[in-house]
Amino acid sequence: DNVRRADVLLAAQMAPGDALRAARARAPSDGLMASNMRSWREGLPSGLGGPIAMLDDMKRANLRGRGGAGFMTGIKWEACRNAPLKPGQERFVVCNADEGEPGTFKDRVLLTSHADLVFEGMTAAAYAIGARRGFLYLRGEYRYLLEPLTAVLERRRREKVLGNDILGLPGADFDIEIHLGAGAYVCGEESALIESLEGKRGTPRNRPPFPVTNGYLDQPTIVNNVETFAAAALVALNGGDWYASIGTKHSAGTKLLSVSGDCERPGIYEYPFGVSIRQVLDDCGARDTQAVQVSGPSGVCIAPAEFDRVIGFEDIPTAGAFTIFDNSRDMFEVARNYVHFFQHESCGFCTPCRVGTSLLKNLMDKLHNGVGSPYDFAEIEKLNQLLQAMSHCGLGHTACNPVLDTIARFRPAYEQRMTQQDFTPAFDLDRALA
Ligand code: NAI
Repeated sequence: DNVRRADVLLAAQMAPGDALRAARARAPSDGLMASNMRSWREGLPSGLGGPIAMLDDMKRANLRGRGGAGFMTGIKWEACRNAPLKPGQERFVVCNADEGEPGTFKDRVLLTSHADLVFEGMTAAAYAIGARRGFLYLRGEYRYLLEPLTAVLERRRREKVLGNDILGLPGADFDIEIHLGAGAYVCGEESALIESLEGKRGTPRNRPPFPVTNGYLDQPTIVNNVETFAAAALVALNGGDWYASIGTKHSAGTKLLSVSGDCERPGIYEYPFGVSIRQVLDDCGARDTQAVQVSGPSGVCIAPAEFDRVIGFEDIPTAGAFTIFDNSRDMFEVARNYVHFFQHESCGFCTPCRVGTSLLKNLMDKLHNGVGSPYDFAEIEKLNQLLQAMSHCGLGHTACNPVLDTIARFRPAYEQRMTQQDFTPAFDLDRALA
């Protein structure tokens, strides 16, 4: 069951098209989809409202990306709108529904219960940037959502809030296609997602250039998380100032948390940004908690001394995972499990990540088997530096996080496994090089 707290996103009561109509009504003189606009792509002259008013609203809202990184949504959309188009090019809207971070399931709930909100946000984005085509990239494991989501899209077309002549306005054209992933975690990384969308192997690209200028088919594209689009629909409905009044100065609005693990009431919780870890633990009935993994294994492990820290870009940013471990859990084994996950999901494209995650897994297995020594700590630290400096994408950059975090906070869980004396290896590469 979902447990609701902040009556914003999960409580939104909105008929299809309401947000688009509300945004139109807020800028009546030049408003959304003004009838003198021949097509969305043309938009209106800069400064005259319409898409520009929508972008201003988005910027005033201070809405930040909900995939974890928190980039300003209005700035992303504006950069895409301002990206020059070569002949034959167009702009695209992509919704990243490749929710793969272990412990995260809030996008699944949004798509199950609030799909209209997500599609409405995508349509508002299309209007703001001047796009006619959008994609929902749905993770392979959510295949069962394909039919219900397709039915929602069909209904929206019938209701004239999607497809051609949206709201009956000639030239206001935008449609959405659903693309299924095939179960690769790395395709949640936006440039790997775009590669996959193009029918290629999901390998992350070098960034910059960012998708806003060089995205799908090398054309200007915005990629936003499911929750970001849902929030954007509410910004369009109620205005940027309303949205900015919720949450904290640097983290406007609410955040959905996927609460799981050792607690009485797991589920989706919605809070204004600024909520403390302790508050969430109290609300979900967690007891004897020794750690919370916030934002999944690529995020941060929080110990009891830090439970007054808050969720927000000022302190602990998160894509939404909130996994609770009580005193019965072995935090070394938790970290080992995460390391196995990263090793399995490394796409293998770059050597530092492919080999580094395997070496890390081997080191953790060695400790697990009771044949580790303090020397292995130093090895883990070296691997971390290598993975962070040399990996091609975020997967490798963050693969050591669960290990380093748990060593810092639960060192005895590691030390009790070190049955071997410290030793100097017969061949030490660092010494040899020195
Ligand atoms: P990033 O900070 O590189 O980029 C964030 C967004 O801002 C991207 O859409 C990017 O295109 C855009 N951007 C950044 N700089 C820009 C610029 N100068 N101009 C235009 N656009 C710009 O972060 P990244 O690598 O995309 O994502 C990392 C985050 O993903 C982490 O916070 C991590 O927690 C999260 N994550 C989420 C998962 C999930 O299942 N939701 C899974 C794994 C990681």
